[in-house]
Amino acid sequence: MRKIVEKYVELPKSVRMPMWRVWHWLIRKMDVNGNATFLNYGYSGEAGEFDHLTLKDEHEYHRYAVQLYCHTTRNHVFAESNLLEVGCGRGGGAAFLAETFRPASYIGLDLNSGTTAFCNKRHKVAGLSFVTGDAQNLPFENERFDGVVNVESARCYPDMSRFFREVHRVLKSTGKFHFADMIKPDDLATIEERLDHAGFVIVEKKDIRPHVVKALHIDSANRKTEIDKKTPGFLREAFYEFAGVEGSNRFKIFKTGEMGYWSFTLVKK
Ligand SMILES: C[S@@+](CC[C@H](N)C(=O)[O-])C[C@H]1O[C@@H](n2cnc3c(N)ncnc32)[C@H](O)[C@@H]1O
Repeated sequence: MRKIVEKYVELPKSVRMPMWRVWHWLIRKMDVNGNATFLNYGYSGEAGEFDHLTLKDEHEYHRYAVQLYCHTTRNHVFAESNLLEVGCGRGGGAAFLAETFRPASYIGLDLNSGTTAFCNKRHKVAGLSFVTGDAQNLPFENERFDGVVNVESARCYPDMSRFFREVHRVLKSTGKFHFADMIKPDDLATIEERLDHAGFVIVEKKDIRPHVVKALHIDSANRKTEIDKKTPGFLREAFYEFAGVEGSNRFKIFKTGEMGYWSFTLVKK
């Protein structure tokens, strides 16, 4: 199981979405109190970047995952804005942003219906809702949103170019696309080309790998305790790998730079 998680992006494209469905099902079974609301590696921040970020207890517990969302959407003006998040997972980022910055509306989309049902029950915030759908075929009309958010999800999609074209289609001409993901150094140019072909211009781009490594370093003990508490022994190694705890191959490849992590703010050409 650990090997499957480790080699996820090298698996045939056809098994990626079914695998996510199984993974979400496992998490729903194990996370009985519904605390696991984030599924990303987190972001530690530049010196002083989050000194003034005061969080309530629930969010403090997920501080580094919250900071990844704050960082990724830092160029968005939330007031009166309608946002879509694609690949929202268990909805923690969507709920934090909707509660804190109060946009007009925030829709979280994920391919897993059990997970979006969990999100709709778990996160009760004004203007926030969750729908089931596929990133490569977004169930929305053209030019509906002022912002699209995508955190650590696009690398999972069988056709990333199609996803970028879909984001372009559903964004208003003045809209912003906030995108963060793990990217192998050799793939960066191809991904930027795909964004360009889809009709986007990069406004800001940042190599955040060191901040992701630092967040994982600080948060590893917490992640491990949480996994040990909730996961049966035979699944633990797979979840350590998924969560990128120190000692996992995922942590190692981030640390050595074999795997990068980038954030982008993009607008339509
Ligand atoms: C690593 S998780 C990140 C979740 C969330 N963004 C976060 O930071 O907590 C990746 C998410 O992408 C979702 N996903 C994978 N393929 C998808 C697709 N084709 N369409 C929509 N969501 C997808 C998975 O179900 C999963 O919830």
